[in-house]
Amino acid sequence: MPLEFLLSFRKDICLIKPTESEQFILQSGERKLTFKNAQTGLKIALKTLKTGGATLSQLKNTIHENDGFEALQKFHYYLKKFASLGWLCYSVLSDETKIATVIPLTSDFEFTVQKVPVEAKYVLSRFAYSHQVAGETLLESPLSFAQIMLDWRGAALIAALSTPQNISQLSAEIPGISSETAEQFISLLFISKMLFQVAENDNIDESENTTLAQWEFHDLLFHTRSRVGRHANPSDGTFRFLGKIEPLPAVKPPMLGDLINLYKPDLDNLKLTDIPFTQVLERRKSIREWGDKPITLDQLGEFLYRSARIKDIFPSEFGEVSSRPYPSGGAIYELEIYPVVNICQGLDSGLYHYRPESHQLCRQSLQNEAVEMLLKDAGMSMGVDGMPPILLVISARFQRIAWKYESIAYALLLKHVGVLYQTMYLVATAMNLAPCGLGGGNSDLFVKAVGCDYYAETSVGEFALGSC
Ligand SMILES: Cc1cc2nc3c(=O)[nH]c(=O)nc-3n(C[C@H](O)[C@H](O)[C@H](O)COP(=O)(O)O)c2cc1C
Repeated sequence: MPLEFLLSFRKDICLIKPTESEQFILQSGERKLTFKNAQTGLKIALKTLKTGGATLSQLKNTIHENDGFEALQKFHYYLKKFASLGWLCYSVLSDETKIATVIPLTSDFEFTVQKVPVEAKYVLSRFAYSHQVAGETLLESPLSFAQIMLDWRGAALIAALSTPQNISQLSAEIPGISSETAEQFISLLFISKMLFQVAENDNIDESENTTLAQWEFHDLLFHTRSRVGRHANPSDGTFRFLGKIEPLPAVKPPMLGDLINLYKPDLDNLKLTDIPFTQVLERRKSIREWGDKPITLDQLGEFLYRSARIKDIFPSEFGEVSSRPYPSGGAIYELEIYPVVNICQGLDSGLYHYRPESHQLCRQSLQNEAVEMLLKDAGMSMGVDGMPPILLVISARFQRIAWKYESIAYALLLKHVGVLYQTMYLVATAMNLAPCGLGGGNSDLFVKAVGCDYYAETSVGEFALGSC
């Protein structure tokens, strides 16, 4: 006979019993269920679900014995309601202790008990991963609407399932795990989309499915965790470090180095003389060949002024924010620009930081090995012999954005890189310069070149610029 799963409430579900009435209230966040005049059996069952948990048969016995046969139908209705809210957890026991517990992440999780073929082999999904959270080992997957809490035996079973196993092999591999427990464990993982059945030709759905096959593990995890849906993490600005860690200032504190004042174009004049917007849009293209006459320092100054200067700094409820030519979520503006100069008339080759508030360059280094490697890498990304005249490396001060946003911080940051690229493309086109956005760059090399802390600030985009 197959074993039954142990049912219990999620940890965050509160059971409130007001002292002066017979009401029972179950609550999770804003959601509340009130049980008026709850009978003895129901009260015991709710308390059991909140404490250790019990199997469906045990819960039904409690209701039957205390409240009578007629109360069972209503209890079934309640259980369905709890399941549909994602409040019920499902555990596999061995020696009376939980070796694995499925915890729904959202109400979209459906726990439909399925009997798994006993002779078949099963293998862990390549999307499943385990990590430590608040002292527990959790198994999670971007394919799943639930997470699984494991004890050491559960973790050992997961390790064994890295290669295809049938139920008897799995039970033989881990001491103390009966074949019934192994079957129930596999069933739990199967329902939660953490593992797949291996077909006779050794294939699994996950790799046969051409849509899934084209997802990298990290991309799918990033996608699912930075979009609303199969997780319960807050997606707005949560300001979770308010009062604990000071937010970074709107403008990066000045770096050390020689300062170079940049040319400021006359915007009123440009408004009259610029080529029309539709022409800019239609002419815009990526250009990977550069004119014989190099780009000049004044052109670089005009380009940076028109695409990335600070127009205004103003206070907000949670510190200063700014206004610049390109948009930014929450007006946070976490991106910095570092021109890496190969050839620019009027400017020495080397690495500079752009100061958007004073419209200046701050020299970090002259031409050196790291500077050359950054430029060479960019040339290779563009498929050209040699190096671009100027490479604009875009970095992010991560904590500027992560202080406010939680689940979406990095996704938001990449969107900012995109809007900055497009602004740079359009300005370069209007100025008859040669722009080209790049898809890849070496963030460790950038850290070496600039001397910053990888986790505090490193490169997230690259953009080549030269003359036409
Ligand atoms: C985010 C992004 C990444 C890119 N990466 C590269 C790259 O690494 N190398 C390259 O030569 N072009 C790169 N490009 C330029 C595209 O190849 C180009 O935009 C595309 O072929 C369309 O051509 P167009 O820009 O001339 O309209 C990139 C463009 C963007 C927006």
